Amino acid sequence: MNDLMEKIVSLCKRRGFVYPSSEIYGGFANIYDFGPLGVELKNNLKKAWWEEMIKNHKDIVGLDAAILMNPRVWKASGHLSAGFADELLECKDCRKRFKLDEIKEDKCPECGGKLSEPRKFNLMIKTFIGPVENEAAVAYLRPETCQGIYVNFLNVINSMRLKIPFGMAQIGKAFRNEINPKSFIFRTREFEQMEMQWFCRPNEADKYFDYWKEERLKWYQKLGISKENLRVSEAPKEKRAHYAKRQIDIEYHFPFGWGEIEGIHNRGDWDLKNHSKYSGKDLSYTEEGGDKYYPHVIETSVGVERSLFAFLSEAYQEVEGGRTTTTESAKEVEVLLKLPKSLAPIKVAVLPLVKNKPEIIKKAKEVYQLLNPHFMCQYDEVGSIGRRYRRMDEIGVIVSATCDFQTLEENTITLRERDSMKQIRVEISKLQEIIQKILDGEEFLKLGEIVK
Ligand code: GAP
Repeated sequence: MNDLMEKIVSLCKRRGFVYPSSEIYGGFANIYDFGPLGVELKNNLKKAWWEEMIKNHKDIVGLDAAILMNPRVWKASGHLSAGFADELLECKDCRKRFKLDEIKEDKCPECGGKLSEPRKFNLMIKTFIGPVENEAAVAYLRPETCQGIYVNFLNVINSMRLKIPFGMAQIGKAFRNEINPKSFIFRTREFEQMEMQWFCRPNEADKYFDYWKEERLKWYQKLGISKENLRVSEAPKEKRAHYAKRQIDIEYHFPFGWGEIEGIHNRGDWDLKNHSKYSGKDLSYTEEGGDKYYPHVIETSVGVERSLFAFLSEAYQEVEGGRTTTTESAKEVEVLLKLPKSLAPIKVAVLPLVKNKPEIIKKAKEVYQLLNPHFMCQYDEVGSIGRRYRRMDEIGVIVSATCDFQTLEENTITLRERDSMKQIRVEISKLQEIIQKILDGEEFLKLGEIVK
């Protein structure tokens, strides 16, 4: 692991974002759990995507389909056949397994040993439904969420009276028996996807493919991902997923190098046509004028953990020379997690200036009670005020509210903004309204009396 990667992984563990799963038993197969801050960040990310899809776009509806589906779904979708398989090679010496596309030379990348011939390895994770573990009871954990959308196409179109073009969006868990899970939360066997399927007329698929590519790129940039760290790569025919007529990957420049965070696929009529054939139900669409066809699908598919990792990498900054200006920290490197306001897990820290003044502690706790129903807040009284600002910067808290001696006399409080470290003084009676304005993006220094 490189230096920056190590620092991000360590911050995630130390500050409650991401823990290795089942850690007290030595962990489990590159699977991770999300801690108190991680789950807030993840929920904020999912909310940002959901709002973008459902609120900011006309004609997209939501769905939450089950993870377990009738196994015939996976026959129809092509996932049970060779299409959804990786080519795997095994080292005859160290027995480690590698994906074919990870092998650069003719020998094992770990020990230099001789490699086996490649063989196909299906990525679906199998389980059994019911008390008897036989072939008839086999079911699969879904490897992509979108099949739940296709099998509900008729239900949704009929119950919601939708007309082509329209979209369906879903967020949920997916599972793949990856041969080589790696790079922290980048490639795991259990993950979440945020997928949107746009159903359109066949002759409009190219137009919507370009439209959705642009929309998705704009979304990342709106949430603070810099242009230099984003790129788009078009998959050549031999690298495309089995269902894709056209495929582009949106890639992010991670600390370990470029990696895909989202796929945009033109799936044509692959899914609706195959589900019609295998289920015997007609999933074609008839226009008012009588034109009948299988709608074509443009899919946007993001991994929650992968994009979360991209947002964390983008936000992670080290600042030398003591940002928080305490004597202890003046020479140390400080971490600033510059997450966008909508994604930051904690919005407000409430801090008493000193710990040994009961009136100040009491006031700070009152302020915390006042704000907590409205924003994700954290109360912290441990250590010097500089140390505490530093801890808040490290987890990306947008604004800190400090109660001091003046608070007791005037009922005012100091607000410190994370990015500029500038401070303003505001009345406690207006605190909630002002914090909301800060979160809505209003100019910080205009919202109170500037502290020199
Ligand atoms: N329905 C289309 C589909 O599943 P994909 O390109 O295989 O397309 C879409 O996956 C996204 O899901 C990827 O861009 C990635 O963000 C995420 N993803 C896929 N496999 C993953 C894994 N093993 N671990 C974490 N995220 C994964």
